[in-house]
Amino acid sequence: MKKVSPSRTELAKEAASASAPDAASGPAPTLGSLASFQAPLRALIFGASGGLGAALTEHLRAQPEVGEVFGAARSAEEPWRFTLEDEASIAKVVANASANGPLDLVIVATGLLHAAPLRPEKTWRQLSGEALMTLFQVNAVGPALIAKHCLPQLRRDAKAVFAAISARVGSIEDNRLGGWHSYRASKAALNMLLRNFAIELKLSHPQALCVGLHPGTVDTALSAPFQSALPPGQLQTPQASAAALIEVLDRLSVEDSGRLWAYDGQPIPS
Ligand SMILES: NC(=O)c1ccc[n+]([C@@H]2O[C@H](COP(=O)([O-])OP(=O)(O)OC[C@H]3O[C@@H](n4cnc5c(N)ncnc54)[C@H](OP(=O)(O)O)[C@@H]3O)[C@@H](O)[C@H]2O)c1
Repeated sequence: MKKVSPSRTELAKEAASASAPDAASGPAPTLGSLASFQAPLRALIFGASGGLGAALTEHLRAQPEVGEVFGAARSAEEPWRFTLEDEASIAKVVANASANGPLDLVIVATGLLHAAPLRPEKTWRQLSGEALMTLFQVNAVGPALIAKHCLPQLRRDAKAVFAAISARVGSIEDNRLGGWHSYRASKAALNMLLRNFAIELKLSHPQALCVGLHPGTVDTALSAPFQSALPPGQLQTPQASAAALIEVLDRLSVEDSGRLWAYDGQPIPS
């Protein structure tokens, strides 16, 4: 029997399941405004150096409803430099971003799938405790600590959103191909944390949402090694995905909190 690589097939499936903007045409120019928020927005992006993080930061800076966009990254200048492994650096970024008022929108765009010698596993035989710990640290623990510091700083008197970029492959119900054990499990953990935080957030911030986002298959460093198996036209540009994700966040309301949302506006089962 022909061997199947979950790494490639899973990415192809993620792309094929999508029905939203394709890379060639891109989104309509009006996609991704923030009309449902109270202007002028104060937005904070963690991972502004990444493919999606940079596109989200750029997109938000171009929106007339947005007043300030703070881009935090481990390569950023102080006071916007942080690493997911250092809670104090996260707390410092949040303190600076919220010094002059509450935050309307926080997006965690950090994440890790591979970093030599770390590769997504195709079988349990390739599991290592170290890889599992690294993926959980970056994809679940770090974003949870960001939430710990950001959620109390969200606006209370109007819509506010805390969103973390997760992945469809973190859905337990949607998992039919297996593989990518550490990445899938770390994103599933992230999805659970986001649901938990959403329930707790409702008590103090009744107009605020806490959600996960699936960006589609996007042309970034993270997906680069797995793009060759994709059907033509299925790979989105970071700009198209960023605009679509902002559009989704603009359309969500408090009843939608705690769930994982795809860039085409569809909920993904957890
Ligand atoms: N691209 C896709 O097809 C796809 C599909 C599904 C989900 N996603 C998710 O989308 C999110 C963004 O990914 P991307 O595609 O934009 O990947 P990317 O270009 O590789 O960006 C990853 C970002 O995470 C940051 N990061 C990684 N480890 C960090 C750490 N320990 N401390 C601080 N920052 C750290 C990176 O910082 P440096 O610049 O300093 O390395 C970079 O800003 C991830 O959560 C990913 O799982 C992507």
